[in-house]
Amino acid sequence: MKTLRKLILLSITTTILSSCVPKTSVQNKAGIDPKSFQKELDGKKTNLYVLTNKNGIEITATNYGGLIVSIETPDKSGKFSDIALGFNKLDDYMTSSPYFGAAIGRYGNRIKAGKFLLDSVEYSLPINNGPNSLHGGLKGFDKVVWDATQIDDQTLELKYSAKDMEEGYPGNLNIKMVYNLNDNNELKITYEATTDKPTVINLTQHSYFNLAGEGSGTILDHIMMINADHITPVDSTLIPTGILMPVAGTPMDFRTPMAIGSRIDSICEQLKFGLGYDHNYVLNQSKPGEMVLAARVVEPTTGRTLEVETDQPGIQFYCGNFLKGDLTGKSGRPYNFRNGFCLETQHFPDSPNQPNFPSTVLRPGETYHHTCIYRFGVE
Ligand code: BGC
Repeated sequence: MKTLRKLILLSITTTILSSCVPKTSVQNKAGIDPKSFQKELDGKKTNLYVLTNKNGIEITATNYGGLIVSIETPDKSGKFSDIALGFNKLDDYMTSSPYFGAAIGRYGNRIKAGKFLLDSVEYSLPINNGPNSLHGGLKGFDKVVWDATQIDDQTLELKYSAKDMEEGYPGNLNIKMVYNLNDNNELKITYEATTDKPTVINLTQHSYFNLAGEGSGTILDHIMMINADHITPVDSTLIPTGILMPVAGTPMDFRTPMAIGSRIDSICEQLKFGLGYDHNYVLNQSKPGEMVLAARVVEPTTGRTLEVETDQPGIQFYCGNFLKGDLTGKSGRPYNFRNGFCLETQHFPDSPNQPNFPSTVLRPGETYHHTCIYRFGVE
Protein backbone atom coordinates (compact mmCIF):
# COMPACT_ATOMS: atom_id res chain seq x y z
CA MET A 1 0.00 0.00 0.00
CA LYS A 2 2.82 2.32 1.09
CA THR A 3 4.73 1.58 -2.14
CA LEU A 4 1.63 2.33 -4.23
CA ARG A 5 1.17 5.67 -2.46
CA LYS A 6 4.84 6.47 -3.05
CA LEU A 7 4.49 5.61 -6.72
CA ILE A 8 1.41 7.81 -7.17
CA LEU A 9 3.18 10.67 -5.37
CA LEU A 10 6.25 10.23 -7.58
CA SER A 11 4.18 10.24 -10.75
CA ILE A 12 2.27 13.41 -9.67
CA THR A 13 5.56 15.15 -8.81
CA THR A 14 7.08 14.16 -12.16
CA THR A 15 4.03 15.48 -14.03
CA ILE A 16 4.09 18.79 -12.16
CA LEU A 17 7.86 19.16 -12.64
CA SER A 18 7.81 18.29 -16.34
CA SER A 19 5.01 20.79 -17.03
CA CYS A 20 7.27 23.48 -15.51
CA VAL A 21 10.22 22.71 -17.78
CA PRO A 22 10.50 25.37 -20.50
CA LYS A 23 9.72 24.09 -24.00
CA THR A 24 13.29 24.65 -25.13
CA SER A 25 14.73 22.14 -22.68
CA VAL A 26 12.33 19.35 -23.61
CA GLN A 27 14.09 16.39 -25.19
CA ASN A 28 13.53 16.59 -28.93
CA LYS A 29 13.22 13.76 -31.46
CA ALA A 30 16.45 14.84 -33.15
CA GLY A 31 18.28 14.25 -29.84
CA ILE A 32 19.83 17.71 -29.85
CA ASP A 33 20.89 19.05 -26.48
CA PRO A 34 19.38 22.55 -26.13
CA LYS A 35 22.28 23.46 -23.81
CA SER A 36 24.71 23.31 -26.70
CA PHE A 37 22.73 26.15 -28.30
CA GLN A 38 22.48 28.32 -25.17
CA LYS A 39 24.95 31.20 -25.17
CA GLU A 40 25.08 34.92 -24.72
CA LEU A 41 26.33 36.70 -27.85
CA ASP A 42 26.22 40.41 -28.64
CA GLY A 43 24.33 40.85 -25.34
CA LYS A 44 21.53 38.51 -26.43
CA LYS A 45 20.67 34.96 -25.41
CA THR A 46 20.60 32.18 -27.95
CA ASN A 47 18.50 29.06 -27.54
CA LEU A 48 17.05 26.05 -29.33
CA TYR A 49 13.33 26.10 -30.16
CA VAL A 50 11.21 23.08 -31.02
CA LEU A 51 8.23 23.08 -33.41
CA THR A 52 6.00 20.01 -33.68
CA ASN A 53 2.80 19.12 -35.47
CA LYS A 54 0.09 16.54 -34.86
CA ASN A 55 1.75 14.10 -37.28
CA GLY A 56 4.96 14.00 -35.25
CA ILE A 57 7.03 16.15 -37.62
CA GLU A 58 9.55 18.12 -35.61
CA ILE A 59 11.71 21.07 -36.54
CA THR A 60 14.32 22.61 -34.28
CA ALA A 61 15.67 26.09 -34.90
CA THR A 62 17.86 28.59 -33.10
CA ASN A 63 17.70 32.36 -33.02
CA TYR A 64 21.44 32.50 -33.86
CA GLY A 65 21.31 33.13 -37.61
CA GLY A 66 17.69 31.94 -37.69
CA LEU A 67 19.23 28.50 -38.28
CA ILE A 68 17.00 25.51 -38.89
CA VAL A 69 18.94 22.82 -37.05
CA SER A 70 16.90 19.67 -37.70
CA ILE A 71 13.82 18.49 -39.59
CA GLU A 72 12.46 15.10 -38.52
CA THR A 73 9.99 13.63 -41.02
CA PRO A 74 8.66 10.08 -41.58
CA ASP A 75 9.49 7.91 -44.59
CA LYS A 76 6.89 5.76 -46.37
CA SER A 77 7.05 3.12 -43.60
CA GLY A 78 6.63 5.74 -40.87
CA LYS A 79 10.28 5.77 -39.77
CA PHE A 80 11.45 9.25 -38.78
CA SER A 81 14.83 10.67 -39.83
CA ASP A 82 16.44 14.06 -39.78
CA ILE A 83 16.54 15.32 -43.37
CA ALA A 84 18.46 18.57 -42.77
CA LEU A 85 22.25 18.82 -42.76
CA GLY A 86 23.76 20.58 -39.77
CA PHE A 87 25.57 20.34 -36.46
CA ASN A 88 24.78 19.39 -32.85
CA LYS A 89 26.45 22.46 -31.38
CA LEU A 90 26.19 26.19 -31.98
CA ASP A 91 30.01 26.39 -31.81
CA ASP A 92 30.28 24.32 -35.00
CA TYR A 93 27.88 26.63 -36.81
CA MET A 94 29.88 29.62 -35.63
CA THR A 95 33.22 28.31 -36.84
CA SER A 96 32.71 26.37 -40.03
CA SER A 97 29.25 26.24 -41.53
CA PRO A 98 28.57 26.67 -45.25
CA TYR A 99 25.25 28.33 -44.30
CA PHE A 100 23.59 25.07 -43.12
CA GLY A 101 19.93 25.92 -42.35
CA ALA A 102 20.66 29.64 -42.29
CA ALA A 103 18.49 32.70 -42.74
CA ILE A 104 20.27 34.66 -45.46
CA GLY A 105 20.34 38.44 -45.87
CA ARG A 106 20.49 41.33 -46.40
CA TYR A 107 21.14 40.08 -49.92
CA GLY A 108 21.01 36.37 -50.77
CA ASN A 109 23.52 35.09 -53.32
CA ARG A 110 26.14 37.17 -55.11
CA ILE A 111 26.58 40.86 -55.90
CA LYS A 112 29.21 41.44 -58.55
CA ALA A 113 32.50 42.83 -57.19
CA GLY A 114 30.57 43.77 -54.02
CA LYS A 115 29.38 47.01 -55.60
CA PHE A 116 26.04 48.47 -56.66
CA LEU A 117 24.53 51.84 -57.52
CA LEU A 118 21.30 52.95 -55.89
CA ASP A 119 19.85 56.39 -56.68
CA SER A 120 23.27 57.34 -58.15
CA VAL A 121 25.17 56.49 -54.95
CA GLU A 122 27.70 53.67 -55.11
CA TYR A 123 27.77 51.21 -52.21
CA SER A 124 30.65 48.81 -51.44
CA LEU A 125 30.14 45.49 -49.71
CA PRO A 126 32.63 43.06 -48.18
CA ILE A 127 34.12 40.66 -50.75
CA ASN A 128 33.84 37.14 -49.35
CA ASN A 129 33.49 34.84 -52.37
CA GLY A 130 36.14 35.08 -55.11
CA PRO A 131 35.80 38.64 -56.42
CA ASN A 132 32.17 38.98 -55.24
CA SER A 133 30.03 39.53 -52.16
CA LEU A 134 27.96 36.50 -51.12
CA HIS A 135 24.96 36.08 -48.78
CA GLY A 136 25.07 39.47 -47.08
CA GLY A 137 28.80 39.77 -46.39
CA LEU A 138 31.09 38.77 -43.55
CA LYS A 139 28.45 38.98 -40.83
CA GLY A 140 25.20 38.42 -42.67
CA PHE A 141 21.87 37.61 -41.05
CA ASP A 142 23.08 34.01 -40.66
CA LYS A 143 25.59 35.17 -38.02
CA VAL A 144 23.52 37.58 -35.94
CA VAL A 145 21.27 36.88 -32.97
CA TRP A 146 17.60 37.37 -33.77
CA ASP A 147 14.97 38.21 -31.13
CA ALA A 148 12.86 35.10 -30.75
CA THR A 149 9.30 34.63 -29.54
CA GLN A 150 7.86 31.15 -29.51
CA ILE A 151 4.20 31.96 -30.25
CA ASP A 152 3.01 28.37 -29.80
CA ASP A 153 4.19 24.77 -30.38
CA GLN A 154 4.07 25.34 -34.15
CA THR A 155 5.25 28.92 -34.55
CA LEU A 156 8.53 30.74 -33.96
CA GLU A 157 8.76 34.46 -34.67
CA LEU A 158 12.21 35.93 -35.26
CA LYS A 159 12.98 39.64 -35.53
CA TYR A 160 16.15 41.44 -36.43
CA SER A 161 16.95 45.12 -36.91
CA ALA A 162 19.91 45.62 -39.22
CA LYS A 163 21.64 48.98 -38.86
CA ASP A 164 22.14 51.58 -41.57
CA MET A 165 25.39 50.63 -43.41
CA GLU A 166 25.67 47.26 -41.61
CA GLU A 167 27.83 45.15 -43.97
CA GLY A 168 27.79 48.15 -46.33
CA TYR A 169 24.03 48.21 -47.03
CA PRO A 170 22.08 51.44 -46.59
CA GLY A 171 19.02 51.84 -44.37
CA ASN A 172 17.92 50.63 -40.96
CA LEU A 173 16.04 47.49 -41.88
CA ASN A 174 13.45 45.88 -39.57
CA ILE A 175 12.75 42.26 -40.41
CA LYS A 176 10.18 39.83 -39.10
CA MET A 177 10.55 36.21 -40.14
CA VAL A 178 8.10 33.52 -39.01
CA TYR A 179 8.65 29.75 -39.05
CA ASN A 180 5.29 27.98 -38.87
CA LEU A 181 4.96 24.20 -39.02
CA ASN A 182 1.33 23.38 -39.72
CA ASP A 183 -0.64 20.12 -39.56
CA ASN A 184 -0.50 19.76 -43.37
CA ASN A 185 3.22 19.02 -42.88
CA GLU A 186 4.24 22.39 -44.28
CA LEU A 187 6.96 24.62 -42.95
CA LYS A 188 5.70 28.03 -43.96
CA ILE A 189 8.29 30.78 -43.82
CA THR A 190 7.09 34.36 -44.10
CA TYR A 191 9.31 37.40 -44.24
CA GLU A 192 8.38 41.06 -43.88
CA ALA A 193 10.75 44.00 -43.81
CA THR A 194 10.70 47.80 -43.84
CA THR A 195 13.48 50.35 -44.20
CA ASP A 196 14.05 54.03 -43.39
CA LYS A 197 16.28 54.64 -46.47
CA PRO A 198 16.26 53.11 -49.95
CA THR A 199 18.05 49.76 -49.84
CA VAL A 200 18.23 46.40 -51.61
CA ILE A 201 16.92 43.20 -50.06
CA ASN A 202 16.81 39.51 -50.93
CA LEU A 203 16.15 37.15 -48.02
CA THR A 204 16.17 33.37 -48.26
CA GLN A 205 16.47 30.09 -46.34
CA HIS A 206 19.58 27.99 -46.86
CA SER A 207 18.62 24.53 -45.53
CA TYR A 208 20.51 21.65 -47.11
CA PHE A 209 18.26 18.62 -47.53
CA ASN A 210 18.95 14.94 -47.94
CA LEU A 211 15.58 13.18 -48.03
CA ALA A 212 17.20 9.82 -47.25
CA GLY A 213 18.49 11.36 -43.99
CA GLU A 214 21.39 13.70 -43.29
CA GLY A 215 24.75 11.98 -43.54
CA SER A 216 23.39 9.15 -45.69
CA GLY A 217 25.38 9.84 -48.86
CA THR A 218 24.83 11.68 -52.11
CA ILE A 219 21.63 13.29 -53.30
CA LEU A 220 22.29 12.32 -56.92
CA ASP A 221 19.49 9.72 -56.97
CA HIS A 222 16.86 12.19 -55.77
CA ILE A 223 14.34 12.95 -58.52
CA MET A 224 14.02 16.69 -59.08
CA MET A 225 11.36 18.77 -60.81
CA ILE A 226 11.81 22.53 -61.18
CA ASN A 227 8.99 24.60 -62.63
CA ALA A 228 11.13 26.88 -64.79
CA ASP A 229 11.61 27.35 -68.53
CA HIS A 230 14.73 29.51 -67.99
CA ILE A 231 17.76 29.99 -65.79
CA THR A 232 19.86 33.09 -65.31
CA PRO A 233 23.15 31.73 -66.72
CA VAL A 234 26.34 32.74 -64.92
CA ASP A 235 29.95 33.59 -65.68
CA SER A 236 32.88 31.71 -64.17
CA THR A 237 32.50 33.64 -60.86
CA LEU A 238 28.80 32.68 -60.71
CA ILE A 239 27.51 36.17 -61.53
CA PRO A 240 24.53 36.24 -63.93
CA THR A 241 25.34 37.41 -67.43
CA GLY A 242 22.00 39.25 -67.50
CA ILE A 243 20.24 37.11 -70.10
CA LEU A 244 17.59 34.45 -69.52
CA MET A 245 18.63 31.12 -71.00
CA PRO A 246 15.98 28.57 -72.06
CA VAL A 247 16.59 25.23 -70.35
CA ALA A 248 15.02 23.25 -73.22
CA GLY A 249 17.48 20.79 -74.73
CA THR A 250 20.10 21.31 -71.97
CA PRO A 251 21.03 19.35 -68.81
CA MET A 252 19.63 22.31 -66.84
CA ASP A 253 16.07 21.25 -67.75
CA PHE A 254 14.14 19.81 -64.78
CA ARG A 255 10.62 20.51 -66.05
CA THR A 256 10.18 16.74 -66.35
CA PRO A 257 11.29 15.01 -63.13
CA MET A 258 14.86 13.69 -63.49
CA ALA A 259 17.48 12.23 -61.16
CA ILE A 260 19.77 15.07 -60.08
CA GLY A 261 22.80 13.01 -61.09
CA SER A 262 21.52 11.85 -64.46
CA ARG A 263 23.14 14.67 -66.46
CA ILE A 264 25.29 16.45 -63.87
CA ASP A 265 28.58 15.44 -65.48
CA SER A 266 27.53 16.41 -69.02
CA ILE A 267 29.78 18.71 -70.97
CA CYS A 268 28.03 22.01 -70.38
CA GLU A 269 29.60 25.38 -69.60
CA GLN A 270 27.02 26.18 -66.91
CA LEU A 271 27.67 22.91 -65.07
CA LYS A 272 31.41 23.52 -65.37
CA PHE A 273 31.12 26.98 -63.79
CA GLY A 274 28.91 25.72 -60.94
CA LEU A 275 30.82 22.43 -60.44
CA GLY A 276 27.35 21.01 -60.94
CA TYR A 277 23.98 22.68 -60.32
CA ASP A 278 24.33 26.04 -58.59
CA HIS A 279 21.87 28.11 -60.57
CA ASN A 280 18.96 30.47 -60.26
CA TYR A 281 15.87 29.12 -62.00
CA VAL A 282 13.35 31.67 -63.30
CA LEU A 283 10.02 30.36 -62.04
CA ASN A 284 7.06 30.04 -64.39
CA GLN A 285 4.55 32.49 -62.93
CA SER A 286 1.62 34.02 -64.77
CA LYS A 287 2.16 37.31 -62.92
CA PRO A 288 4.82 38.63 -60.52
CA GLY A 289 4.20 37.56 -56.94
CA GLU A 290 2.01 34.60 -57.88
CA MET A 291 2.40 31.70 -55.44
CA VAL A 292 3.51 28.68 -57.51
CA LEU A 293 4.89 25.21 -57.06
CA ALA A 294 8.58 25.92 -57.66
CA ALA A 295 10.10 22.48 -57.17
CA ARG A 296 9.25 18.91 -56.20
CA VAL A 297 11.80 16.34 -55.06
CA VAL A 298 11.34 12.60 -54.48
CA GLU A 299 13.81 10.26 -52.78
CA PRO A 300 13.02 6.83 -54.30
CA THR A 301 14.16 4.49 -51.49
CA THR A 302 12.43 6.21 -48.56
CA GLY A 303 9.58 7.67 -50.62
CA ARG A 304 10.05 11.05 -48.95
CA THR A 305 8.96 14.04 -51.01
CA LEU A 306 9.64 17.75 -50.69
CA GLU A 307 7.57 20.38 -52.44
CA VAL A 308 8.57 24.03 -52.48
CA GLU A 309 6.11 26.83 -53.15
CA THR A 310 6.89 30.52 -53.32
CA ASP A 311 5.81 33.95 -54.51
CA GLN A 312 9.41 34.90 -55.38
CA PRO A 313 10.58 35.09 -59.03
CA GLY A 314 13.45 32.62 -58.61
CA ILE A 315 14.83 29.59 -56.85
CA GLN A 316 18.51 28.74 -56.41
CA PHE A 317 19.13 25.04 -56.90
CA TYR A 318 22.48 24.26 -55.31
CA CYS A 319 23.54 20.65 -54.92
CA GLY A 320 26.34 20.80 -52.37
CA ASN A 321 29.18 21.04 -54.90
CA PHE A 322 31.39 22.76 -52.33
CA LEU A 323 30.97 20.08 -49.62
CA LYS A 324 34.18 18.08 -49.42
CA GLY A 325 33.97 15.74 -46.43
CA ASP A 326 35.78 17.96 -43.92
CA LEU A 327 32.61 18.70 -41.91
CA THR A 328 31.06 16.11 -39.61
CA GLY A 329 27.33 16.32 -39.20
CA LYS A 330 24.83 15.64 -36.42
CA SER A 331 25.04 11.85 -36.67
CA GLY A 332 28.84 11.82 -36.71
CA ARG A 333 29.13 11.20 -40.43
CA PRO A 334 31.05 13.44 -42.85
CA TYR A 335 29.26 15.58 -45.39
CA ASN A 336 30.89 14.74 -48.70
CA PHE A 337 30.61 16.18 -52.21
CA ARG A 338 26.93 16.55 -53.18
CA ASN A 339 25.54 15.06 -49.95
CA GLY A 340 22.82 17.73 -49.67
CA PHE A 341 20.88 20.12 -51.87
CA CYS A 342 19.37 23.55 -51.30
CA LEU A 343 16.28 25.08 -52.87
CA GLU A 344 16.46 28.76 -51.96
CA THR A 345 13.44 30.86 -52.95
CA GLN A 346 14.69 34.30 -53.90
CA HIS A 347 15.07 37.23 -56.27
CA PHE A 348 17.75 36.75 -58.90
CA PRO A 349 21.42 37.01 -57.90
CA ASP A 350 23.10 40.38 -58.58
CA SER A 351 19.76 42.08 -59.31
CA PRO A 352 21.03 45.44 -57.98
CA ASN A 353 23.38 45.51 -61.01
CA GLN A 354 20.96 44.03 -63.54
CA PRO A 355 18.40 46.52 -64.86
CA ASN A 356 16.47 43.77 -66.68
CA PHE A 357 15.88 41.65 -63.57
CA PRO A 358 12.89 42.22 -61.23
CA SER A 359 13.82 44.98 -58.80
CA THR A 360 15.11 44.24 -55.29
CA VAL A 361 14.97 47.87 -54.19
CA LEU A 362 12.97 48.55 -51.03
CA ARG A 363 12.04 52.14 -50.23
CA PRO A 364 10.74 53.79 -47.06
CA GLY A 365 6.97 53.30 -46.82
CA GLU A 366 7.08 49.97 -48.69
CA THR A 367 7.01 46.50 -47.15
CA TYR A 368 9.04 43.57 -48.44
CA HIS A 369 7.01 40.33 -48.44
CA HIS A 370 8.21 36.82 -49.17
CA THR A 371 6.53 33.48 -48.57
CA CYS A 372 8.22 30.10 -48.92
CA ILE A 373 6.55 26.78 -48.16
CA TYR A 374 8.49 23.54 -47.73
CA ARG A 375 5.93 20.71 -47.79
CA PHE A 376 7.09 17.31 -46.50
CA GLY A 377 5.39 14.15 -47.73
CA VAL A 378 5.78 10.54 -48.89
CA GLU A 379 4.68 8.63 -51.94
C1 BGC B 1 25.35 29.45 -53.55
C2 BGC B 1 26.60 28.64 -53.68
C3 BGC B 1 27.38 28.75 -52.42
C4 BGC B 1 26.52 28.26 -51.29
C5 BGC B 1 27.24 28.48 -49.98
C6 BGC B 1 24.56 28.90 -52.42
O1 BGC B 1 23.41 29.67 -52.24
O2 BGC B 1 24.60 29.45 -54.73
O3 BGC B 1 27.38 29.07 -54.76
O4 BGC B 1 28.57 28.05 -52.47
O5 BGC B 1 25.34 28.99 -51.25
O6 BGC B 1 27.07 27.45 -49.15
